[in-house]
Amino acid sequence: MSIVWMRTPEGFKRAELLEGSPSQRLLKIGGEEVAIPGENLPHENFFPALYEGEAKPDVWEFEGRSLPKVRSEQFGNPEQAKALVPEVEPYHFPRLETVCILDGIIGGDHMLLFGGTGTGKTSRVLQIAARIGQPVVRVNFNAQVSPSDLLGFMGIGAQGTVWHDGLLTTAMQEGYWILLDELDFCPPDVASVLFPVLEKVSRVVLKEHPTGKVVTGERLKPWTEARMTGFRVFATGNSFGGEANGYHGTQQQNKALLNRFTGHGRVVQIAGMSPRDEKAMLRERCPWLPEKLVRRAVKFAQKVRQSDGQNAAVLPDFSTRELLNWCEKTMQTRSPVQAASMTFLPLVEDESTRGALQDAILAIVGRRLVLNGSGNADPRPPRVPADPNARGSASVLDPANPNREAEFLAVLDARAKGLSWKAIEDLPVLRLARRNGMTAWEILHRAPADLYAKHADRIASAKKPAR
Ligand SMILES: Nc1ncnc2c1ncn2[C@@H]1O[C@H](COP(=O)(O)OP(=O)(O)OP(=O)(O)O)[C@@H](O)[C@H]1O
Ligand SMILES: [Mg+2]
Repeated sequence: MSIVWMRTPEGFKRAELLEGSPSQRLLKIGGEEVAIPGENLPHENFFPALYEGEAKPDVWEFEGRSLPKVRSEQFGNPEQAKALVPEVEPYHFPRLETVCILDGIIGGDHMLLFGGTGTGKTSRVLQIAARIGQPVVRVNFNAQVSPSDLLGFMGIGAQGTVWHDGLLTTAMQEGYWILLDELDFCPPDVASVLFPVLEKVSRVVLKEHPTGKVVTGERLKPWTEARMTGFRVFATGNSFGGEANGYHGTQQQNKALLNRFTGHGRVVQIAGMSPRDEKAMLRERCPWLPEKLVRRAVKFAQKVRQSDGQNAAVLPDFSTRELLNWCEKTMQTRSPVQAASMTFLPLVEDESTRGALQDAILAIVGRRLVLNGSGNADPRPPRVPADPNARGSASVLDPANPNREAEFLAVLDARAKGLSWKAIEDLPVLRLARRNGMTAWEILHRAPADLYAKHADRIASAKKPAR
């Protein structure tokens, strides 16, 4: 009989474990006997449902899943462990993918996360680790990474020639997670080092070690054994290698390496986020963004990534990373187009595609972001594309608008003086028009005919005809 803690909708309950079999466990809670599923079977409400030990567990919960929080003092080298715990950042965890990853962690799987660039593979692992205080060793693959970086080497130290553990062997022995970032850049000789690690039982023999040391990575179940989640391998990649889909320089991945993940572990596809998740992500990461900008920016992102059935998508790889950066820059510049031209637009080679993207930004997000008095900001309503036939219509310059004449004359005079459209837009007299989403060009070119008739002389005497 041992003491366990059972998760219930009312919180943890202390219980005695009377009997445990792979298919069922029998508990005694406050004099009552309760049967729940076996340890690898998800309980209908929780996974896992039980934690072993006397002390009440401290866990991070997500959608019926829980992971125990760990403290650096629980590791062999507390200082090193502490330094390896990622910092908590505001983060939105998309439900299905995150549940899949958590189940993998709970079940002791090695995991391969794959998906387009900037979709959140690396950050997902780091942010889960940050929530529970788990140290993570991160390896970024490039041509310089060698097998000895992972396994270790004999080197000269204060006590003569001694063995130095590598990143992988340290993680295996200490119970850290290892994040093999951009696995598709992993050189073949390094990949072969990973084979035995990705087996059901992770074990490597250190051939270079003077005594041929054998290192084992124990993948403890998180609800057992001193509450350490233990060693886990996470790999991320954009592709399975090769030059396909624009991911140049990646290595064609060895089938045997991928088979280790599909055969013993878990492959999680990190797809682009749904509009709902993407909005939640922006609100989480940039709480100061105005709600209208969040909605419109996400709408733009979804639109340019999808094909409309006839035409291919304009920007299929527009990533979460780019969306986030563009929104932040829009807040700084107040201009969604300007923000785009300092982020994703310059990399679009085709000029007509760039033009189409600018038009889409103007139509969906608007020309300018205007702050209102409360410090909140509202983007302008979408600009109506200039339509010569619309000249004189009340919707363009409302006859009831007392400022319409002053606005018209201000633009006319300023153009005659040679001021740029941009400079004219900043004139105080156009403050109201700006707020209504009218550009200076529109005020002049779409003004009603009566204004043109009334000021025909002034128009004729202007040095540069304004129209
Ligand atoms: N769900 C999310 N919530 C908050 N921020 C996110 C989310 N997903 C991605 N981000 C942010 O987007 C950026 C890119 O994410 P990340 O580095 O995890 O992408 P990746 O898939 O690993 O990209 P790559 O394949 O290029 O390495 C990071 O700044 C990250 O914090
Ligand atoms: Mg990454």
